[in-house]
Amino acid sequence: MNNPNPVIPLFDLNYGSEEEEAVLRVLRSKWLTMGPETEALEHEFAEYFKVKHAIAVSSCTTALHLANLAVGVKQGNEVICPSLTFVATSNSILYANGTPVFADVVSLDDWTISPAEIESKISSRTTAIIVMHYGGFACQMDEIIEIAKRYKIPVIEDAAHAPGSFYKDRLLGAIGDISCFSFFSNKNISTGEGGILCTNNDEYAKYIKKIRSHGMTSATLDRHLGHAYSYDVTDLGYNYRVDEIHAALARCQLKKLSTGNERRRLAAIRYKDALSKIDKIKIPFGNYCFLANYHIFPILLDKSIDRHGLMVFLRNKGIQTSIHYPPVQMFSYYRENYKTTMLPITEEIGRREVTLPMFPTITDGQICFISENIMEFFQK
Ligand SMILES: Cc1ncc(COP(=O)(O)O)c(C=O)c1O
Repeated sequence: MNNPNPVIPLFDLNYGSEEEEAVLRVLRSKWLTMGPETEALEHEFAEYFKVKHAIAVSSCTTALHLANLAVGVKQGNEVICPSLTFVATSNSILYANGTPVFADVVSLDDWTISPAEIESKISSRTTAIIVMHYGGFACQMDEIIEIAKRYKIPVIEDAAHAPGSFYKDRLLGAIGDISCFSFFSNKNISTGEGGILCTNNDEYAKYIKKIRSHGMTSATLDRHLGHAYSYDVTDLGYNYRVDEIHAALARCQLKKLSTGNERRRLAAIRYKDALSKIDKIKIPFGNYCFLANYHIFPILLDKSIDRHGLMVFLRNKGIQTSIHYPPVQMFSYYRENYKTTMLPITEEIGRREVTLPMFPTITDGQICFISENIMEFFQK
C-alpha cells in the first residue's frame, strides 16, 4: 500500500525565525518587487561568489533562457548540453530557438558532461556549451574551458545544484561566462521559486538586467524614487523579475549555505559508511577530490536490481526517493521533435539511479533507518 505521507521526505526545508522575520520585514516595507531586498541579495551573492555581477530573476529556468539570449543563441544555432539533467537545461535552448545537441557524461562514476564528447559534437553552428554540475559535483572545468577557448565558444554553467561546491579552489558558478542558480524549494538555497545569474561580463550583465524586465531602460523603483521619469523599450524583454519576499528569503538562505552544506557532507559520510556493506550499490563520484555540497544523494543499483521494487518498498516504509534523471532526449517531446543520438552511459544511469533523502537537517537516526530498510530489501 502506498504511504501518502513520507516519514522521511526527499528534501526538507531548513527554515526558522530568520525567514519568518524576513517575510514580515518585506510586508511591512510595502515594497513588493525588485527593491532593496533584491539589490542587497545581488550584492551579497556577488560578494559570496566573487563575481562582478549577480542578477536575480524569477527562476533558474528564466536565468538559463536569458543566458542563452545573452550569448547570442538564435534560430539555426546549436548548443551542446548534457541529457542527464533536469529538462529546463535543454528547454532553455529551445526558448531561444536554438537546437540542443546532447553529449554523454564521463563514466558510471563521474556523471558530469564529458569534455571529449563536447569536443566531438562541436560544429560550425555551435554557439554555446551548457554544463551542469550534477548533484553539486563539478564538471571537468579545466578541460571544458580549454576546449571552449580553443573554439571561442562561451560556457554557461547550469549551477542549479551547485551553490557552495568547489572545483579546485574555485566556487562553482564563478568559472564559466555566465552561471545560473536555482532557488526552487529543494535546492541548497531554497525560497520556493527564484534564481540568479552570475557573470563577470559587463555587456552580458547590462543586457540581462534590461531583458529580465521587458527590455525597459528604467525600473519601477527608479521611477518611484524619482531617478527616472519615463522609459524606452530597446529589446524584446520578459517579466522574469524576482519579488522582494523571495529575495529576502534567499538572503537568509545564503547566510545558512555553508553550515547547511557542511551538515550535508556529514550526512553523506554516514550514508557511505552504511551503504558500503551492500555490493549491489555503487555511490558515484567515488574519486571526487574537491569540496562538494551534496545537493542530492544518488546511488547506482546493480543491473540485476529491480529499481521500481526498491522505490515502492522504501515508499511503503515512509521513505521518499526519486530519479535524477530520466534522460532528456528520451522524453516523448524530444524524441518526436528533435534528432536524438545514443548516449550509452547517460541511458545506463537513467535506468539504474535512485536518489535517497538528503537535506541539512537529516539526522543520523534517519540515515540509519533508510540504510537498514535498503539492507532489508537486498536481503529478501
Ligand atoms: C539542473 C537544473 N537546472 C535547472 C533547473 C530549473 O530550476 P528552476 O526550478 O529554478 O527553474 C533545475 C531545477 O530543478 C535543475 O535541477
